[in-house]
Amino acid sequence: MIAKEELEKHIAAALARAGAPPGAPALVGPATRPEFGDYQANGVMAAAKQLQTNPRELAARVVEELDLSEMADSVEIAGPGFINIALKGDWLAARLDDMLADQRLGVPEVAAPQKVVIDYSHPNLAKEMHVGHLRSTIIGDAIARVLEFLGHEVVRHNHVGDWGTQFGMLIAYLDQQQDGDAMAELADLEVFYQSARKRFDADETFADLARECVVKLQGGDAQVRAVWQRFIDESLRHCEEVYERLGVTLTRADVRAESAYNDDLPVVIENLRAQGLLEESQGAQCVFLDDFKNKNGEITPVIVQKSDGGYLYATTDLSAVRYRAGQVGAKRVLYIVDARQKLHLRQVFAVAQAAGYAPDSVALEHYPFGTMLGEDHKPFKTRTGGTVKLMELLQEAEDRAFALVGEKNPDLSADERRQIARVVGIGSVKYADLSLNRETDYVFSWDNMLSLDGNTAPYLQYSYARVKSLFRRAEIDEESLAAAIIVAEKAEKVLAAKLLQFGEAVEVVAREGYPNLLCNYLYELADAFMKFYENCPVLRADEPVRSSRLQLARLTARTIGKGLGLLGIETVERM
Ligand code: ARG
Repeated sequence: MIAKEELEKHIAAALARAGAPPGAPALVGPATRPEFGDYQANGVMAAAKQLQTNPRELAARVVEELDLSEMADSVEIAGPGFINIALKGDWLAARLDDMLADQRLGVPEVAAPQKVVIDYSHPNLAKEMHVGHLRSTIIGDAIARVLEFLGHEVVRHNHVGDWGTQFGMLIAYLDQQQDGDAMAELADLEVFYQSARKRFDADETFADLARECVVKLQGGDAQVRAVWQRFIDESLRHCEEVYERLGVTLTRADVRAESAYNDDLPVVIENLRAQGLLEESQGAQCVFLDDFKNKNGEITPVIVQKSDGGYLYATTDLSAVRYRAGQVGAKRVLYIVDARQKLHLRQVFAVAQAAGYAPDSVALEHYPFGTMLGEDHKPFKTRTGGTVKLMELLQEAEDRAFALVGEKNPDLSADERRQIARVVGIGSVKYADLSLNRETDYVFSWDNMLSLDGNTAPYLQYSYARVKSLFRRAEIDEESLAAAIIVAEKAEKVLAAKLLQFGEAVEVVAREGYPNLLCNYLYELADAFMKFYENCPVLRADEPVRSSRLQLARLTARTIGKGLGLLGIETVERM
């Protein structure tokens, strides 16, 4: 059991014995300042309010009822009724020994694993994948890894946009090209899209042809379908190159495209009609729900079928909810989708719930994220105002990291340097995105993300490599080290308490979907390690302290490595 939970259990019981209302929570969290000890319990104030008693008096009764003699050195009441707890060095040390012996670093699998669908990345296949898809891809992948680590069954759904009118234009254009030319142009999807668009705007006959293609595509015309399939395959291949380069776990098997729901759309409409949920408004089929009243009390409808019979983005999403909750059997469905789609998803969730596609037992959760901005705080673009290609961006990251690694460590061979630059460069791009609260817009800055100090990938990767170099210098094989950990010095204690919080950080990400909380944790851990390293000599210490400190360093590296791994970021042995 992690320290926080254990304290919570003890304090909640003491609260009850002290006369607090049943179920009063202990509200235990890591102390915000070293002088507050290691943990702080904040539950007394709320309980006292309910009982209408003095919180400090209640705190005193709780402390009297509390037996933490095994875990804690001191239990103190502070301020209006906080309980500050300083853990015992021996207790911490014994926990760290267990953590070190455990492949999972003391993080248990959940008792009740859930099936969780995660809808992420989901580029529009008509165009090349661009920076707009980076955030969903990176954040979604980190959340998928965290949930899987905790034992949940994760089903990745790459809800790619592969359907709609723009494909008519692309199919018509592809069909008109000589085979060789088309393939050459297709190599650059952006160019291909622009060329098709140009012809569509300039040439009426071509535009008609394009529209005809859409109708044929939707009608299932075999020949048009085949051309479309060729285009989709090519576009997916581009995406996979990006996934591969980024180290993202999505594969072709995870593609569950918009078109997959196509045949189900009329079924959804009929089902909504049968349930009496449809209303016609200006020829369109709509669902009116009270949740969507505007200021004047009028309900803004959710349109599910246009007057010409066409379906909408929302219709597909309704079908997708039905599939995910019904066929797949998900208990949670996470949508890692741009904050600008908040209303859309709120509507989809509300209609899906009204129609019973997702029963109350299935959680539909939107994890919104902000826009990626350039250093000028405008949407991220190239110097000339074009969209930035992901592959070029990732190449630049690696090139910049190559220079950085060369400065830091000029003795590395070019090969090694390139290998490290790949890990650091890609890691930097991912970490920069993950380390901020996803809901805010985020300013993309090469200098910040590649900085060696601060909350960055290179800083954490460097902390990891530093431990590895310590072991190389000591000429000790990590795995052969069996010494017990001793926690005596202040810096050791701070590091020990931080190490034990790893599981807490992972669980918060799983519950709330904010990977930045794990990043913050890793940054604090690396910081605690640096302070320990400055204050506590390792190789120059006498035994058994020397081996104990090596163990602390080793456990730190493993925790940073595991934490970064859960974020989809690699480490290197030297930097
Ligand atoms: N393809 C969509 C876009 O590029 C995002 C899809 C999000 N997922 C969903 N189920 N609507 O905007």
